[in-house]
Amino acid sequence: MLPTLYKNRYPCNARHTSTPPDMALPLLSLLPLFSLLVLSSPSIGHSAAAASSLHPNFYAHSCPTVEKIVNSVMAEAVSENPRWAASILRLHFHDCFVKGCDGSVLLDSSGVFLSEKRSNPNRDSARGFEIVDKIKLAVEAACPETVSCADILALAARDGVVLTGGPGWEVPLGRRDSLTPSLNDSNNNIPAPTNTLNTIITKFNRQGLDVVDVVALSGSHTIGKSRCASFRQRLYNQTGDGKPDETLDLGYAAKLRTRCPRTGGDQTIFSLDLVSPNRFDNQYYKNIVAKKGLLNSDEELYTASQVTRDLVEKYSVSNDVFFEQFAKSMVKMGIYRPLRGHKGKLGGFVGGLIIKHV
Ligand code: HEM
Repeated sequence: MLPTLYKNRYPCNARHTSTPPDMALPLLSLLPLFSLLVLSSPSIGHSAAAASSLHPNFYAHSCPTVEKIVNSVMAEAVSENPRWAASILRLHFHDCFVKGCDGSVLLDSSGVFLSEKRSNPNRDSARGFEIVDKIKLAVEAACPETVSCADILALAARDGVVLTGGPGWEVPLGRRDSLTPSLNDSNNNIPAPTNTLNTIITKFNRQGLDVVDVVALSGSHTIGKSRCASFRQRLYNQTGDGKPDETLDLGYAAKLRTRCPRTGGDQTIFSLDLVSPNRFDNQYYKNIVAKKGLLNSDEELYTASQVTRDLVEKYSVSNDVFFEQFAKSMVKMGIYRPLRGHKGKLGGFVGGLIIKHV
């Protein structure tokens, strides 16, 4: 049950410009313990995670219930509407592709900065902010000014995947929250569905991700929805010659056209996975092989390169192989260039504490 009277002093959409001071002293007294945790991290299994100072046990002492809280709010949300799992997963992705996972996607515009919510990839499309707020409220009630919004989003994304039938993984934690959004980076760094495969791979490379990550993480499109506006071009005028996309199954295209007309209906939504839209599985890859991937960027994985085609085929025949790589790629995406040192804000923690010890 969510607390109703608790005042959310540090919501995820508007951050204070200074780190709250009241956690500084208790934290200093825990310093030896934290260094021990960071240095001796046996279970992390990802050297990059260790290098970036994130660790699954980061809140073990300061907020031991955080994972439970995130999970219970996500379970409630996903049972009401499974699409929340997809929307939160996408928010985490859109957060991580803009200067690392630092919660910047959650920030509203201020007098000085414009929110990433206005960017082309997010406008009329990014959703789930109210679920993040709900989680943050519950986490603040248990552990005031301790857990970053970026960490909440990373945990919630993982939980959404598990709740819809996908793989689980340990989420390295300890990200700091940015105090500023970047509308420009949101527009430039997040791949568009009309980007060529090469451009998409380049955008992933910029985030420390490779072609295997591109194919595995695109598997997120096994859940969730897309608006007609995001794939209309494939139905009517794929290359500017007034013809539909040849790599799209004819029957599927005809069905899509009935609800996604040449003009209008931009916001009408369609399942990204036409077969099992609420289940996180490898059906997405089977669809692609059958020419039934919804977005151009989905189908290009099969048609634009032999390397990505082979990976699509590999994941289409084995849920386990897909799940294993998906979990690895999610961790990799989540730990790239986290805010560290004195930058940003980590719940109520002071800057630089953990990083001194790695
Ligand atoms: C490879 C490049 C990618 C492109 C071009 C792309 C593009 C898109 C587009 C256009 C939509 C539909 C948006 C709309 O019309 O409202 C969408 C939805 C979605 N994307 Fe991606 N995406 C990519 C990769 C990813 C990755 C890496 C993830 C997660 C790790 C992801 C997770 C999702 C999810 C879960 C949805 C459904 C969201 C919902 O139902 O609210 N996508 N994506």
